[in-house]
Order: sequence, then C-alpha cells, then structure tokens
Amino acid sequence: MSRPLTILMDEHRIIEQALGSLETCAIEVDGGLAIERAVVRDYADFLKGFADAWHHGKEEDILFRRMVERGFSAESGPVAVMLHEHRQGRELVGRIAAVGAGEGPVAPEERASFLAASRGFVPLLRQHIQKEDNILYPMSARVLTPEEFEKMLADFEAFERAAGAVGTRDRLSAVAEKLVAAFRPDEARMAAGAAGGCWSRG
Ligand SMILES: [Fe+2]
Repeated sequence: MSRPLTILMDEHRIIEQALGSLETCAIEVDGGLAIERAVVRDYADFLKGFADAWHHGKEEDILFRRMVERGFSAESGPVAVMLHEHRQGRELVGRIAAVGAGEGPVAPEERASFLAASRGFVPLLRQHIQKEDNILYPMSARVLTPEEFEKMLADFEAFERAAGAVGTRDRLSAVAEKLVAAFRPDEARMAAGAAGGCWSRG
C-alpha cells in the first residue's frame, strides 16, 4: 500500500473512534443525559477540522482530483459517490456545529437536532470509510503509478502545511482523544455499523 493511502487509512481509524464516541454520546443523550454545549462544540470542531478539512480536503484536492485526471468521472461512479457523501456529511456536521455555536443550556429542539444529525452522520461516514478502504483506495492503487503516489505524498505535505501549519493534527487528535475518553466507543456497535448494521438504541 502506498504511503498516501496509508496516511488516509490511518486517519480513518481516528475518525472511526470519534464516530464511535459520538454514537455513544448520542445514545446516552437519547437516554436522558443532559448534553453540554461544550461537548457538542468539541465534536463539531473535530469533525469539521479533522474529518472534513484535513482528511476530506486531501482526498478531494489531491487523490480524487488525480483519479479524475486519470479518467474517473466526477459526475457519476465511485469518485462522484464519495464526493456526494462528503457533501451530505458536511450538511449534517453543519447542524451539529450550529448547536455547538449556540449559547446557554441546550434547548429541547437543539437536542433533537443534535440527535437527528448524529444518527444520520455516524452510519453515513462509517459506511463511507468502508467504501474508501475496500473499494476506492484499492481502485486508485490499480490506476495510479508509483511515481504519481510519490508526487501525491509531496502534495499531501504541502496541503497539510497550508491547512494547519504546525499542530493542527495534534490538536484535533487530542480533541478526539478527550471525546473518546468521555464517551467510550462501543466496539460491538462499531463493528456492526461497519458491516452495514443500522443504528440501534443500545
Ligand atoms: Fe476518507
């Protein structure tokens, strides 16, 4: 497996932990736990900053773009589906971020919005990651040359420098670790979700 794909897959593992944490959090909130706004803000911070800007950014601006240059359609087919799912995810994370950005105690309708968006987002991104790991990335490895992956690695480094300067990855990984410690991912639920299971209440 080429280095750029390994980097992206390592990021998937961090994102999956955060998704597992969000799932546990939402289940507890659904069960009656009062959600703190700061916690919602942390989930939004990680999902926007790491899952989207840092990770999807590299996919969209570098890997997918290179695949499109090599003949994959951006309008239909696997790359197009991945781009579409990134947009769907962005919309759902936007709703979580909107709750995080509010003030004072979380109102009932905000709680409902957080739960609905989380219920949509966790399975969406989990399945999306499976598709990339098992279908899209191996596909890219078949069509792109080692030289192209070599160039991609340099592009990744330039992207990361521009995206966050120093410390972005570490800061956001620490946010994920804090969330994972507060709301422990449930391994069984994560495995069932990755295998295509749907959201269950516990
Ligand atoms: Fe990805």
